[in-house]
Amino acid sequence: MNFVVVYSSRTGNTKMVAEAVTSVLPKGTTCLPVTEVKPEMIQAADCVFVGYWVDRGLPDQAAKNFLAQLTNQHIALFATLGADPHSQHAIDSLVKGAQCLQNPESVVNQFICQGKIDPKLIEQMYKMFPAGHPHGRTPERDALHVEAAKHPNEADLEAARNFARETLRRLGTV
Ligand SMILES: Cc1cc2nc3c(=O)[nH]c(=O)nc-3n(C[C@H](O)[C@H](O)[C@H](O)COP(=O)(O)O)c2cc1C
Repeated sequence: MNFVVVYSSRTGNTKMVAEAVTSVLPKGTTCLPVTEVKPEMIQAADCVFVGYWVDRGLPDQAAKNFLAQLTNQHIALFATLGADPHSQHAIDSLVKGAQCLQNPESVVNQFICQGKIDPKLIEQMYKMFPAGHPHGRTPERDALHVEAAKHPNEADLEAARNFARETLRRLGTV
């Protein structure tokens, strides 16, 4: 079976996860940013792993465009986000990823983990939304940012490798 790993990453979190995923796929599996992957690489793949960063609850725009034109039989989705990876927001962010596909039933497996949030974005948000606003600064939000800053950590990367191993099992390759 042929695999390819394609990711969109603004600040490097999703790239780290993509590399962890690739490390347990067959030797020589291509891992490229969405902007560099060639159509023939996608056509030759039995299963495409696609990684994105969550942008306002959705896959980021580059990933969204890529997902919309994928027609491979098997697709494994992974993502990183600033929020708690066990939250409804995280679950919804994966559902939204699958919904970008022409055939959401091609999704063989999914994975999401937390990723550090760009400090410039945090600063902008706090400037834009004053304390008291639903998106404004609260002790809970500060705590979330402190926690997010530690991810992806080694446990996340091991979970990503396990996600890739499980995907191989589901496809009957091991
Ligand atoms: C413009 C923007 C919008 C974001 N929207 C969300 C969001 O809706 N939910 C969330 O949990 N994190 C959100 N984040 C945080 C990123 O998803 C998170 O930091 C991610 O790990 C970044 O991945 P990357 O390093 O691969 O770019 C947002 C970040 C940016 C820059």
